[in-house]
Amino acid sequence: MKRLRSLPLAGVIVVAFALTLALPAAAQSAYDRDVVVQVMRTNLQTLGQVRAALNKGDFYAAAEGFWKFAEGQNRILQFTPPKGSKAEWDRILGKFVDTALRGVGAAGERDAPKGLKIVEELQALNKEGHSLFR
Ligand code: HEM
Repeated sequence: MKRLRSLPLAGVIVVAFALTLALPAAAQSAYDRDVVVQVMRTNLQTLGQVRAALNKGDFYAAAEGFWKFAEGQNRILQFTPPKGSKAEWDRILGKFVDTALRGVGAAGERDAPKGLKIVEELQALNKEGHSLFR
C-alpha cells in the first residue's frame, strides 16, 4: 500500500523536475538575425515617429510608438546573442522594455517633456546595446 502510494508521488517529482529544466530552455531560442534586423529597422522608424508625435502633442501616436518599442525588444529578448553575454542582453533589453512601457504611461499623461526624456533613456540603452552586441 505504502509502495503504491509513493510511486505516483515519485512520478510527480520526476515530471516537476523535468519541467523546471524544460521551461527555461523553452523561454530562449537561437539568435534569428532576420528578426533582429527587422526589429532594429522598425526601431529606427519608431524613433522618428515617437519624437514627432510628442512634439506635436499626438499622444495616441506616441503611445503606439512606445508600445512598438516594447513589443519588438520583448520579441528579441528570447534570443541568445552571437557575441556578448546573455545576462547583459537580458538586462539591457529588459530595461528597454520597462522604459518603453513608462513611455506609454507618459503619453497617457499627455506629458511631452517626460516622453522626450524617456526617448533619451531609450537611446542611451540603444548605445549600450550596440557597443556590446552589434
Ligand atoms: C532606439 C533603439 C535602437 C535603434 C534605433 C536601433 C537601430 C539599429 C539599426 C538601424 C541596426 C542595423 C539594422 C540593419 O542591418 O539594417 C541595428 C542593429 C543591431 N542592433 Fe539596434 N537599435 C536600437 C536598440 C538596440 C538595443 C537595445 C540592442 C541590444 C540590447 C540592439 C542590438 C542590435 C544588434 C545586435 C544589431 C545587429 C543585428 C545583426 O546584424 O545581427 N539595438 N540597430
